[in-house]
Amino acid sequence: MQTDRNGQNTIVRYLPMRVAVVLGTRPEAIKMAPVIHELKKCFDLFDVVVIATAQHREMLDQALSLFEIVPNHDLNLMYPGQSLSLLTSRVLDHMDLALGRIKPDMVLVQGDTTTVFATSLAAFYRKIPVAHVEAGLRSHDMLNPFPEEGMRRLTTVLTEINFAPTPLARTMLLKEGVSPQKITVTGNTVVDSLHYILSKPFSCLGTPLEGIDFDNYRTILVTCHRRETLGKDLEEICLALLDIIKEFPDVRVVYPVHLNPEVQSTARRILSDVDRVHLIPPLDYLTFVNLMKRTHLILTDSGGLQEEAPTLCKPLFVLRRVTERPEAFNEGLSKVIGTSREAIVKETSHLLRDAEFYSAATCGKNPYGDGAASSRIVEALQRWSRGLLPLLDPDREFTYRNGNGGL
Ligand code: UD1
Ligand code: UDP
Repeated sequence: MQTDRNGQNTIVRYLPMRVAVVLGTRPEAIKMAPVIHELKKCFDLFDVVVIATAQHREMLDQALSLFEIVPNHDLNLMYPGQSLSLLTSRVLDHMDLALGRIKPDMVLVQGDTTTVFATSLAAFYRKIPVAHVEAGLRSHDMLNPFPEEGMRRLTTVLTEINFAPTPLARTMLLKEGVSPQKITVTGNTVVDSLHYILSKPFSCLGTPLEGIDFDNYRTILVTCHRRETLGKDLEEICLALLDIIKEFPDVRVVYPVHLNPEVQSTARRILSDVDRVHLIPPLDYLTFVNLMKRTHLILTDSGGLQEEAPTLCKPLFVLRRVTERPEAFNEGLSKVIGTSREAIVKETSHLLRDAEFYSAATCGKNPYGDGAASSRIVEALQRWSRGLLPLLDPDREFTYRNGNGGL
């Protein structure tokens, strides 16, 4: 209620803020889904327009259909074996046209993909403010992960509101000179999605997990797809898996193979038709989370898995040289072990042999989020649209206090 020029009380009606939510790949869909649903609950405040670049096709659709999200605009840009430059220029070009038609008041992007960077640039050229979910992750090595470290930094420069998932991510942004008023700490939205999925019933029947003996074997879940890992490193990882399977007769490896053709060809060349190694297609998120629940250990180069494993109390080895998500490592819940065959076999064997070492590695509390990130993001967007600062009251921000020895 406000007072009008004649001194009468009057109700001020604001037009809903039009928010274009942009997604390109599987993890963007999984991590943006709870934000989209939360925004849509406030339909009087937000007019939500979902744009899919479809940088991924099948893997994006799989995630979107589980969360019952149908994009309002689908740019359908995936090209088999797409190069970074071609994809960047196509997203920039098509996004510019889409933004010109949709005329959003704000563009919301998530993560560090080509979709995120090219969309932010297109929005900047049209002077549309960008809000960046999962801002501030840094490895300080431009080639690891490549090109994601560069994409994140470039996106930060173009961003108006930074939704940092953790206090550490905020610190990274402050060090780069981002104004504190443009940052708020929300937790990672993947934890919201994970909580939602864990509440859903599941049966292996009819899924690629049907028939895999989880009861009488220890399962190692493997995922691996990063561009810097392709080639020699991925070969080393696959050869290490062969060694582990040979050494431990009670172990099975389940590896949902990313659709990147280079990943497919290396994994299939080395691991096809190996007893107790299951190469399966990418899984929908419900099936994948239930696979994680059934595993003894996770070996991965994925970003999202590092953030999910603590909630599920699963120890995780990061198959990379460095991680931009060190929070789990700092809590002793994960370990960065690199990509050499020798190191992977050594670390994995240690964990498989030493029960005490294993139990210390499990936790349950999650340094990446508490399941309320999406509601914080929506609250901050509301406040921003009304010109209010801070974006969130400090008491509302995500904090994490634990201290758990582990790996
Ligand atoms: C991209 C992101 C990476 C993210 C990953 C999530 C960039 C530069 N990389 O990597 O940060 O971690 O997604 O998985 O943005 N393909 C299909 N169908 C699909 C998906 C991919 O066939 O549904 C194949 C295509 O041949 C495509 C290739 O995989 O050319 C690579 O896809 P792309 O999105 O370029 O890179 P990713 O390696 O998936
Ligand atoms: N995931 C999935 N199905 C799979 C493999 C992974 O749903 O077969 C989920 C996983 O739980 C996580 C996200 O996809 O939430 C990670 O995606 P990806 O590894 O492709 O990308 P990254 O996290 O490395 O950016």
